[in-house]
Amino acid sequence: MARIAGDEEETTVSDGGKPMRLWGGRFESGPADALARLSVSVHFDWRLVPYDLMASRAHARVLNRAGLLTDEELERMIGALDDLETACKTGEFRPTVADEDVHTALERGLLERLGSLGGKLRAGRSRNDQIATDLRLYLRDNVRAIISRLVEVETALMAQAATHADTAAPGMTHLQHAQPVSFGHQLLAHVHAFARDIDRLIDWDKRAAVSPLGSGALAGSSLPLDPVVVAEELGFTSAAPNSMDAVADRDFAAEFLFDAAMIGIHLSRLGEEIVLWASQEFRWIEMDDAYSTGSSIMPQKKNPDVAELARGKSGRLIGNLMSMLTVLKGLPLTYNRDLQEDKEPVFDTVDTLLLVLPAVAGLVSTMRVNTARMSATASDGFALATDLAELLVRKGVAFRDAHEAVGHLVVYCQVNDVDLGEVSDEDLAKVSPHLTPDVRDVLNVPGALAARKAHGGTAPDRVRDQLAALREAVDAQAAWASGS
Ligand code: ARG
Repeated sequence: MARIAGDEEETTVSDGGKPMRLWGGRFESGPADALARLSVSVHFDWRLVPYDLMASRAHARVLNRAGLLTDEELERMIGALDDLETACKTGEFRPTVADEDVHTALERGLLERLGSLGGKLRAGRSRNDQIATDLRLYLRDNVRAIISRLVEVETALMAQAATHADTAAPGMTHLQHAQPVSFGHQLLAHVHAFARDIDRLIDWDKRAAVSPLGSGALAGSSLPLDPVVVAEELGFTSAAPNSMDAVADRDFAAEFLFDAAMIGIHLSRLGEEIVLWASQEFRWIEMDDAYSTGSSIMPQKKNPDVAELARGKSGRLIGNLMSMLTVLKGLPLTYNRDLQEDKEPVFDTVDTLLLVLPAVAGLVSTMRVNTARMSATASDGFALATDLAELLVRKGVAFRDAHEAVGHLVVYCQVNDVDLGEVSDEDLAKVSPHLTPDVRDVLNVPGALAARKAHGGTAPDRVRDQLAALREAVDAQAAWASGS
Protein backbone atom coordinates (compact mmCIF):
# COMPACT_ATOMS: atom_id res chain seq x y z
CA MET A 1 0.00 0.00 0.00
CA ALA A 2 1.08 3.57 -0.56
CA ARG A 3 3.15 5.05 2.25
CA ILE A 4 2.42 8.60 3.27
CA ALA A 5 2.93 8.48 7.03
CA GLY A 6 5.18 11.11 8.47
CA ASP A 7 4.50 13.69 5.78
CA GLU A 8 1.88 15.64 7.61
CA GLU A 9 2.53 18.89 9.36
CA GLU A 10 0.69 21.11 11.79
CA THR A 11 -2.40 22.65 10.18
CA THR A 12 -3.12 26.30 10.36
CA VAL A 13 -6.60 27.30 9.31
CA SER A 14 -7.04 30.67 7.71
CA ASP A 15 -10.17 32.62 8.54
CA GLY A 16 -10.81 33.87 5.02
CA GLY A 17 -13.02 32.22 2.48
CA LYS A 18 -16.69 31.91 1.72
CA PRO A 19 -18.54 29.43 3.97
CA MET A 20 -18.92 26.19 2.06
CA ARG A 21 -21.13 23.46 3.36
CA LEU A 22 -21.96 20.11 1.86
CA TRP A 23 -25.50 20.21 3.20
CA GLY A 24 -26.90 23.74 2.67
CA GLY A 25 -29.82 22.81 0.40
CA ARG A 26 -32.69 22.45 2.82
CA PHE A 27 -31.57 25.16 5.29
CA GLU A 28 -32.86 28.72 5.24
CA SER A 29 -30.28 30.15 7.61
CA GLY A 30 -26.62 29.38 8.09
CA PRO A 31 -25.39 27.70 11.26
CA ALA A 32 -24.99 29.68 14.47
CA ASP A 33 -21.39 30.57 15.25
CA ALA A 34 -21.45 28.38 18.32
CA LEU A 35 -22.56 25.38 16.26
CA ALA A 36 -20.03 26.07 13.54
CA ARG A 37 -17.23 26.25 16.09
CA LEU A 38 -18.40 23.04 17.77
CA SER A 39 -18.81 21.22 14.51
CA VAL A 40 -15.58 22.07 12.74
CA SER A 41 -12.95 19.36 12.56
CA VAL A 42 -10.80 20.56 9.68
CA HIS A 43 -8.03 21.82 11.99
CA PHE A 44 -7.33 18.25 13.03
CA ASP A 45 -8.66 16.08 10.20
CA TRP A 46 -6.62 17.99 7.63
CA ARG A 47 -3.89 15.39 7.97
CA LEU A 48 -6.21 12.96 6.21
CA VAL A 49 -5.84 14.89 2.93
CA PRO A 50 -3.65 12.34 1.11
CA TYR A 51 -5.92 9.48 2.12
CA ASP A 52 -9.10 11.35 1.24
CA LEU A 53 -7.67 12.18 -2.19
CA MET A 54 -6.54 8.59 -2.69
CA ALA A 55 -10.08 7.42 -1.96
CA SER A 56 -11.46 10.13 -4.25
CA ARG A 57 -9.38 8.92 -7.17
CA ALA A 58 -10.60 5.37 -6.63
CA HIS A 59 -14.18 6.63 -6.40
CA ALA A 60 -13.80 8.65 -9.60
CA ARG A 61 -12.67 5.52 -11.45
CA VAL A 62 -15.62 3.58 -10.14
CA LEU A 63 -18.00 6.33 -11.28
CA ASN A 64 -16.36 6.14 -14.70
CA ARG A 65 -16.77 2.36 -14.89
CA ALA A 66 -20.41 2.81 -13.89
CA GLY A 67 -20.89 5.19 -16.82
CA LEU A 68 -21.45 8.17 -14.53
CA LEU A 69 -18.27 9.98 -15.58
CA THR A 70 -17.03 10.01 -19.19
CA ASP A 71 -13.41 9.10 -19.89
CA GLU A 72 -12.69 12.74 -20.56
CA GLU A 73 -14.36 13.80 -17.30
CA LEU A 74 -12.41 11.16 -15.42
CA GLU A 75 -9.16 12.42 -16.83
CA ARG A 76 -9.95 16.00 -15.83
CA MET A 77 -11.11 14.80 -12.41
CA ILE A 78 -7.91 12.85 -11.72
CA GLY A 79 -5.82 15.78 -13.01
CA ALA A 80 -7.61 18.15 -10.63
CA LEU A 81 -7.24 15.75 -7.69
CA ASP A 82 -3.51 15.45 -8.39
CA ASP A 83 -3.19 19.20 -8.70
CA LEU A 84 -5.11 19.67 -5.46
CA GLU A 85 -2.78 17.24 -3.71
CA THR A 86 0.25 19.24 -4.82
CA ALA A 87 -1.42 22.47 -3.75
CA CYS A 88 -2.14 21.00 -0.33
CA LYS A 89 1.45 19.82 0.01
CA THR A 90 2.97 23.16 -0.91
CA GLY A 91 0.49 24.99 1.30
CA GLU A 92 -0.93 26.88 -1.65
CA PHE A 93 -4.33 25.36 -0.84
CA ARG A 94 -5.28 25.65 2.83
CA PRO A 95 -8.47 24.91 4.72
CA THR A 96 -10.43 27.87 6.06
CA VAL A 97 -12.56 27.95 9.19
CA ALA A 98 -15.54 27.99 6.88
CA ASP A 99 -14.64 24.46 5.74
CA GLU A 100 -16.36 22.15 8.18
CA ASP A 101 -14.02 19.24 7.62
CA VAL A 102 -11.37 17.85 5.29
CA HIS A 103 -14.00 16.55 2.85
CA THR A 104 -15.65 19.98 2.60
CA ALA A 105 -12.34 21.73 2.05
CA LEU A 106 -11.26 19.31 -0.65
CA GLU A 107 -14.60 19.55 -2.45
CA ARG A 108 -14.14 23.32 -2.45
CA GLY A 109 -10.70 22.84 -3.96
CA LEU A 110 -12.15 20.54 -6.60
CA LEU A 111 -14.95 22.97 -7.47
CA GLU A 112 -12.39 25.77 -7.78
CA ARG A 113 -10.51 23.66 -10.32
CA LEU A 114 -13.33 21.98 -12.22
CA GLY A 115 -16.45 24.09 -11.77
CA SER A 116 -19.63 22.02 -11.84
CA LEU A 117 -17.78 18.83 -12.84
CA GLY A 118 -16.26 18.87 -9.34
CA GLY A 119 -19.74 18.32 -7.92
CA LYS A 120 -20.07 14.94 -9.65
CA LEU A 121 -17.61 13.16 -7.40
CA ARG A 122 -19.95 13.13 -4.45
CA ALA A 123 -22.38 10.77 -6.19
CA GLY A 124 -22.79 7.47 -4.36
CA ARG A 125 -20.65 8.34 -1.39
CA SER A 126 -21.11 10.09 1.88
CA ARG A 127 -18.76 11.61 4.38
CA ASN A 128 -19.75 8.69 6.58
CA ASP A 129 -18.11 6.05 4.41
CA GLN A 130 -15.39 8.49 3.39
CA ILE A 131 -14.22 9.28 6.90
CA ALA A 132 -14.24 5.62 7.94
CA THR A 133 -12.18 4.83 4.84
CA ASP A 134 -9.75 7.72 5.36
CA LEU A 135 -9.08 6.79 8.98
CA ARG A 136 -8.42 3.15 8.07
CA LEU A 137 -6.03 4.17 5.30
CA TYR A 138 -4.28 6.64 7.59
CA LEU A 139 -3.87 4.11 10.37
CA ARG A 140 -2.73 1.24 8.17
CA ASP A 141 -0.05 3.52 6.79
CA ASN A 142 1.01 4.88 10.18
CA VAL A 143 0.99 1.49 11.86
CA ARG A 144 3.72 0.51 9.42
CA ALA A 145 5.70 3.60 10.39
CA ILE A 146 5.22 2.82 14.08
CA ILE A 147 6.39 -0.76 13.59
CA SER A 148 9.52 0.47 11.82
CA ARG A 149 10.31 2.74 14.79
CA LEU A 150 9.59 -0.10 17.22
CA VAL A 151 12.00 -2.32 15.30
CA GLU A 152 14.68 0.31 15.97
CA VAL A 153 14.03 0.00 19.71
CA GLU A 154 14.18 -3.79 19.45
CA THR A 155 17.40 -3.56 17.47
CA ALA A 156 19.02 -1.24 20.01
CA LEU A 157 18.08 -3.59 22.86
CA MET A 158 19.34 -6.61 20.93
CA ALA A 159 22.70 -4.96 20.20
CA GLN A 160 23.20 -4.28 23.91
CA ALA A 161 22.06 -7.81 24.72
CA ALA A 162 24.62 -9.26 22.31
CA THR A 163 27.36 -7.31 24.10
CA HIS A 164 26.08 -8.32 27.53
CA ALA A 165 25.02 -11.95 27.20
CA ASP A 166 27.86 -12.84 29.59
CA THR A 167 27.42 -9.86 31.90
CA ALA A 168 26.01 -10.99 35.22
CA ALA A 169 23.49 -8.76 36.92
CA PRO A 170 21.44 -9.08 40.06
CA GLY A 171 18.08 -10.41 38.86
CA MET A 172 15.21 -9.05 40.90
CA THR A 173 11.72 -9.85 42.07
CA HIS A 174 9.94 -7.30 44.26
CA LEU A 175 12.92 -5.09 43.36
CA GLN A 176 14.98 -7.26 45.75
CA HIS A 177 17.97 -9.31 44.69
CA ALA A 178 16.61 -12.73 43.76
CA GLN A 179 18.97 -14.71 41.50
CA PRO A 180 21.80 -13.62 39.22
CA VAL A 181 20.87 -13.24 35.57
CA SER A 182 22.58 -12.39 32.33
CA PHE A 183 21.97 -8.69 31.69
CA GLY A 184 21.46 -9.64 28.06
CA HIS A 185 18.62 -11.91 29.16
CA GLN A 186 16.97 -9.01 30.95
CA LEU A 187 17.30 -6.73 27.91
CA LEU A 188 15.82 -9.40 25.66
CA ALA A 189 12.84 -9.70 27.99
CA HIS A 190 11.93 -6.17 26.87
CA VAL A 191 12.43 -7.14 23.23
CA HIS A 192 9.92 -9.97 23.59
CA ALA A 193 7.35 -7.51 24.92
CA PHE A 194 7.83 -5.18 21.94
CA ALA A 195 7.83 -8.14 19.55
CA ARG A 196 4.41 -9.14 20.88
CA ASP A 197 3.23 -5.55 20.38
CA ILE A 198 4.30 -5.67 16.76
CA ASP A 199 2.66 -9.06 16.24
CA ARG A 200 -0.52 -7.58 17.65
CA LEU A 201 -0.35 -4.68 15.17
CA ILE A 202 0.30 -7.03 12.25
CA ASP A 203 -2.72 -9.04 13.31
CA TRP A 204 -4.72 -5.82 13.76
CA ASP A 205 -4.04 -5.00 10.14
CA LYS A 206 -6.11 -8.00 8.98
CA ARG A 207 -9.21 -6.49 10.54
CA ALA A 208 -8.31 -2.96 9.50
CA ALA A 209 -7.92 -4.02 5.86
CA VAL A 210 -11.66 -3.89 5.16
CA SER A 211 -12.92 -1.06 2.95
CA PRO A 212 -16.03 0.89 4.00
CA LEU A 213 -16.17 2.84 0.72
CA GLY A 214 -19.40 2.16 -1.16
CA SER A 215 -21.46 1.99 2.03
CA GLY A 216 -22.59 5.57 1.44
CA ALA A 217 -24.38 7.14 4.37
CA LEU A 218 -25.42 3.77 5.76
CA ALA A 219 -27.30 1.66 3.22
CA GLY A 220 -25.05 1.42 0.18
CA SER A 221 -25.86 3.12 -3.10
CA SER A 222 -28.49 2.67 -5.78
CA LEU A 223 -25.85 3.65 -8.34
CA PRO A 224 -24.01 0.78 -10.07
CA LEU A 225 -20.75 1.20 -8.12
CA ASP A 226 -18.39 -1.62 -7.26
CA PRO A 227 -17.08 -1.49 -3.68
CA VAL A 228 -14.96 -4.60 -4.25
CA VAL A 229 -12.96 -2.96 -7.02
CA VAL A 230 -12.51 0.21 -4.94
CA ALA A 231 -11.33 -1.86 -1.98
CA GLU A 232 -8.70 -3.53 -4.10
CA GLU A 233 -7.52 -0.26 -5.57
CA LEU A 234 -7.02 1.17 -2.09
CA GLY A 235 -4.97 -1.82 -0.93
CA PHE A 236 -7.71 -3.29 1.25
CA THR A 237 -8.15 -7.05 1.25
CA SER A 238 -11.94 -6.92 1.11
CA ALA A 239 -14.95 -4.63 0.99
CA ALA A 240 -17.19 -4.39 4.04
CA PRO A 241 -20.00 -6.96 3.80
CA ASN A 242 -22.45 -4.77 5.73
CA SER A 243 -22.81 -1.07 4.96
CA MET A 244 -24.34 -0.26 8.34
CA ASP A 245 -21.50 -1.89 10.23
CA ALA A 246 -19.00 -0.26 7.88
CA VAL A 247 -19.96 3.34 8.73
CA ALA A 248 -20.57 2.70 12.45
CA ASP A 249 -17.58 0.50 13.23
CA ARG A 250 -14.56 2.01 14.95
CA ASP A 251 -13.29 -1.26 16.42
CA PHE A 252 -10.15 -0.82 14.35
CA ALA A 253 -9.46 2.50 16.04
CA ALA A 254 -10.12 1.19 19.55
CA GLU A 255 -8.06 -1.90 18.89
CA PHE A 256 -5.19 0.18 17.55
CA LEU A 257 -5.37 2.36 20.65
CA PHE A 258 -5.23 -0.70 22.87
CA ASP A 259 -2.19 -2.01 21.01
CA ALA A 260 -0.58 1.41 21.34
CA ALA A 261 -1.45 1.65 25.04
CA MET A 262 0.26 -1.70 25.53
CA ILE A 263 3.32 -0.35 23.73
CA GLY A 264 3.12 2.62 26.11
CA ILE A 265 3.07 0.31 29.08
CA HIS A 266 6.09 -1.57 27.80
CA LEU A 267 7.94 1.69 27.14
CA SER A 268 7.00 2.81 30.62
CA ARG A 269 8.34 -0.34 32.24
CA LEU A 270 11.58 -0.11 30.27
CA GLY A 271 11.76 3.61 31.12
CA GLU A 272 11.34 2.86 34.80
CA GLU A 273 14.18 0.32 34.70
CA ILE A 274 16.46 2.76 32.92
CA VAL A 275 15.67 5.45 35.51
CA LEU A 276 16.68 3.00 38.22
CA TRP A 277 19.79 1.79 36.39
CA ALA A 278 20.99 5.37 35.90
CA SER A 279 20.49 6.31 39.55
CA GLN A 280 23.39 6.83 41.94
CA GLU A 281 22.19 3.84 43.93
CA PHE A 282 22.41 1.45 40.98
CA ARG A 283 24.97 3.08 38.66
CA TRP A 284 24.50 0.21 36.21
CA ILE A 285 24.48 2.47 33.18
CA GLU A 286 25.78 5.82 32.06
CA MET A 287 23.52 7.63 29.64
CA ASP A 288 25.04 9.36 26.66
CA ASP A 289 25.05 13.16 26.91
CA ALA A 290 22.95 13.32 23.75
CA TYR A 291 20.14 11.45 25.50
CA SER A 292 20.22 13.01 28.95
CA THR A 293 19.41 16.42 30.34
CA GLY A 294 20.82 18.75 32.96
CA SER A 295 19.39 20.80 35.76
CA SER A 296 19.01 24.58 35.67
CA ILE A 297 20.31 24.87 39.22
CA MET A 298 22.40 21.79 40.01
CA PRO A 299 25.43 21.79 37.74
CA GLN A 300 26.28 18.15 38.45
CA LYS A 301 22.92 16.70 37.38
CA LYS A 302 22.43 14.31 34.49
CA ASN A 303 18.80 13.36 34.27
CA PRO A 304 17.05 10.46 32.51
CA ASP A 305 14.34 12.62 30.91
CA VAL A 306 13.96 10.39 27.86
CA ALA A 307 13.17 7.40 30.05
CA GLU A 308 10.87 9.48 32.23
CA LEU A 309 8.98 10.92 29.27
CA ALA A 310 8.63 7.41 27.82
CA ARG A 311 7.11 6.43 31.16
CA GLY A 312 5.00 9.59 31.41
CA LYS A 313 3.64 9.53 27.85
CA SER A 314 2.05 6.16 28.55
CA GLY A 315 -0.54 8.15 30.49
CA ARG A 316 -1.92 9.80 27.37
CA LEU A 317 -1.76 6.55 25.38
CA ILE A 318 -3.92 4.84 27.97
CA GLY A 319 -6.15 7.93 28.20
CA ASN A 320 -6.70 7.96 24.44
CA LEU A 321 -7.92 4.36 24.57
CA MET A 322 -10.32 5.25 27.37
CA SER A 323 -11.64 8.26 25.41
CA MET A 324 -12.34 6.11 22.40
CA LEU A 325 -14.07 3.34 24.30
CA THR A 326 -16.21 5.88 26.12
CA VAL A 327 -17.23 7.60 22.89
CA LEU A 328 -18.25 4.30 21.31
CA LYS A 329 -20.19 2.93 24.23
CA GLY A 330 -23.95 3.13 23.73
CA LEU A 331 -23.96 4.59 20.20
CA PRO A 332 -26.92 3.38 18.17
CA LEU A 333 -26.30 2.30 14.61
CA THR A 334 -25.15 3.74 12.37
CA TYR A 335 -23.06 6.91 11.97
CA ASN A 336 -23.42 9.44 14.79
CA ARG A 337 -21.55 12.69 15.01
CA ASP A 338 -19.96 11.46 18.23
CA LEU A 339 -17.73 9.48 15.92
CA GLN A 340 -15.94 12.66 14.93
CA GLU A 341 -14.32 12.34 18.37
CA ASP A 342 -12.46 9.25 17.15
CA LYS A 343 -9.72 11.18 15.41
CA GLU A 344 -7.90 13.28 17.99
CA PRO A 345 -7.08 10.35 20.30
CA VAL A 346 -5.86 8.33 17.31
CA PHE A 347 -3.74 11.18 15.96
CA ASP A 348 -2.32 11.96 19.38
CA THR A 349 -1.38 8.34 19.93
CA VAL A 350 0.31 8.09 16.53
CA ASP A 351 2.20 11.36 17.10
CA THR A 352 3.22 10.33 20.61
CA LEU A 353 4.64 6.99 19.52
CA LEU A 354 6.47 8.46 16.55
CA LEU A 355 7.99 11.02 18.94
CA VAL A 356 8.95 8.72 21.79
CA LEU A 357 10.24 5.65 19.97
CA PRO A 358 13.26 7.23 18.21
CA ALA A 359 14.35 8.84 21.49
CA VAL A 360 14.13 5.54 23.35
CA ALA A 361 16.02 3.75 20.58
CA GLY A 362 18.76 6.39 20.80
CA LEU A 363 18.90 6.24 24.59
CA VAL A 364 19.24 2.45 24.61
CA SER A 365 21.74 2.19 21.79
CA THR A 366 24.08 4.82 23.28
CA MET A 367 23.94 3.90 26.97
CA ARG A 368 27.17 2.53 28.44
CA VAL A 369 26.86 -0.40 30.80
CA ASN A 370 28.99 -0.38 33.93
CA THR A 371 29.58 -4.12 33.80
CA ALA A 372 32.06 -4.24 36.69
CA ARG A 373 29.68 -2.60 39.11
CA MET A 374 26.64 -4.51 37.90
CA SER A 375 28.33 -7.91 38.13
CA ALA A 376 30.03 -7.17 41.44
CA THR A 377 26.67 -7.14 43.18
CA ALA A 378 25.13 -10.02 41.21
CA SER A 379 25.31 -12.41 44.15
CA ASP A 380 24.58 -9.83 46.86
CA GLY A 381 21.66 -10.50 49.13
CA PHE A 382 22.41 -14.25 49.22
CA ALA A 383 21.25 -14.50 45.62
CA LEU A 384 22.91 -17.91 45.22
CA ALA A 385 20.82 -19.48 47.97
CA THR A 386 18.56 -21.21 45.44
CA ASP A 387 21.63 -22.71 43.75
CA LEU A 388 22.63 -24.23 47.08
CA ALA A 389 19.17 -25.62 47.71
CA GLU A 390 18.99 -27.09 44.20
CA LEU A 391 22.40 -28.72 44.69
CA LEU A 392 21.06 -30.45 47.78
CA VAL A 393 18.08 -31.62 45.74
CA ARG A 394 20.45 -33.12 43.17
CA LYS A 395 22.06 -34.96 46.08
CA GLY A 396 18.69 -36.47 47.00
CA VAL A 397 17.51 -34.09 49.73
CA ALA A 398 13.82 -33.20 49.59
CA PHE A 399 13.44 -29.60 48.41
CA ARG A 400 11.45 -28.75 51.51
CA ASP A 401 14.38 -29.82 53.73
CA ALA A 402 16.96 -28.22 51.44
CA HIS A 403 15.03 -24.92 51.52
CA GLU A 404 14.99 -25.02 55.32
CA ALA A 405 18.69 -25.88 55.67
CA VAL A 406 19.74 -23.05 53.35
CA GLY A 407 17.31 -20.71 55.12
CA HIS A 408 19.09 -21.44 58.39
CA LEU A 409 22.43 -20.82 56.71
CA VAL A 410 21.21 -17.40 55.47
CA VAL A 411 20.21 -16.46 59.02
CA TYR A 412 23.63 -17.62 60.25
CA CYS A 413 25.31 -15.43 57.63
CA GLN A 414 23.18 -12.42 58.48
CA VAL A 415 23.88 -12.73 62.19
CA ASN A 416 27.64 -13.16 61.61
CA ASP A 417 27.82 -10.70 58.72
CA VAL A 418 29.44 -13.14 56.28
CA ASP A 419 28.58 -14.37 52.81
CA LEU A 420 27.34 -17.90 52.02
CA GLY A 421 30.79 -18.98 50.79
CA GLU A 422 32.59 -17.68 53.86
CA VAL A 423 31.17 -20.13 56.39
CA SER A 424 33.67 -22.70 57.73
CA ASP A 425 33.20 -26.45 57.18
CA GLU A 426 32.48 -26.81 60.85
CA ASP A 427 29.83 -24.14 60.99
CA LEU A 428 28.21 -25.43 57.78
CA ALA A 429 27.84 -28.82 59.44
CA LYS A 430 26.44 -27.20 62.57
CA VAL A 431 23.75 -25.41 60.60
CA SER A 432 22.73 -28.60 58.80
CA PRO A 433 24.26 -32.04 58.20
CA HIS A 434 23.27 -31.63 54.53
CA LEU A 435 25.75 -28.75 54.16
CA THR A 436 28.97 -30.59 53.33
CA PRO A 437 32.02 -28.54 52.17
CA ASP A 438 31.46 -29.37 48.45
CA VAL A 439 28.27 -27.27 48.44
CA ARG A 440 30.56 -24.26 48.01
CA ASP A 441 31.16 -25.41 44.41
CA VAL A 442 27.89 -23.88 43.27
CA LEU A 443 28.54 -20.56 44.97
CA ASN A 444 29.83 -18.71 41.92
CA VAL A 445 27.90 -16.46 39.63
CA PRO A 446 29.13 -17.65 36.20
CA GLY A 447 28.36 -21.22 37.26
CA ALA A 448 24.92 -20.19 38.46
CA LEU A 449 24.18 -18.54 35.12
CA ALA A 450 25.55 -21.41 33.02
CA ALA A 451 23.54 -23.92 35.04
CA ARG A 452 20.25 -22.38 33.93
CA LYS A 453 20.63 -23.84 30.50
CA ALA A 454 17.17 -25.21 29.79
CA HIS A 455 15.03 -23.52 27.14
CA GLY A 456 14.22 -19.97 28.21
CA GLY A 457 16.85 -19.93 30.97
CA THR A 458 19.42 -17.21 31.59
CA ALA A 459 22.52 -19.27 30.63
CA PRO A 460 24.56 -17.05 28.28
CA ASP A 461 24.50 -19.75 25.58
CA ARG A 462 20.71 -19.87 25.77
CA VAL A 463 20.63 -16.06 25.63
CA ARG A 464 22.62 -16.22 22.39
CA ASP A 465 20.16 -18.79 20.96
CA GLN A 466 17.30 -16.56 22.03
CA LEU A 467 18.94 -13.58 20.38
CA ALA A 468 19.39 -15.44 17.09
CA ALA A 469 15.71 -16.42 17.06
CA LEU A 470 14.64 -12.88 17.94
CA ARG A 471 16.78 -11.38 15.20
CA GLU A 472 14.99 -13.52 12.64
CA ALA A 473 11.59 -12.57 14.04
CA VAL A 474 12.46 -8.87 14.11
CA ASP A 475 13.76 -9.01 10.52
CA ALA A 476 10.41 -10.45 9.48
CA GLN A 477 8.60 -7.67 11.34
CA ALA A 478 10.75 -5.01 9.69
CA ALA A 479 10.10 -6.56 6.26
CA TRP A 480 6.34 -6.59 6.89
CA ALA A 481 6.38 -2.92 7.84
CA SER A 482 8.34 -1.90 4.76
CA GLY A 483 6.05 -3.92 2.52
CA SER A 484 8.79 -6.24 1.30
N1 ARG B 1 -16.32 15.14 10.07
C1 ARG B 1 -17.08 13.95 10.32
C2 ARG B 1 -16.32 12.95 11.14
O1 ARG B 1 -15.19 13.16 11.38
C3 ARG B 1 -17.46 13.28 9.05
C4 ARG B 1 -18.64 13.90 8.49
C5 ARG B 1 -19.86 13.14 8.67
N2 ARG B 1 -20.80 14.11 9.06
C6 ARG B 1 -22.09 13.92 9.00
N3 ARG B 1 -22.83 14.90 9.37
N4 ARG B 1 -22.64 12.83 8.56
O2 ARG B 1 -16.84 11.97 11.57
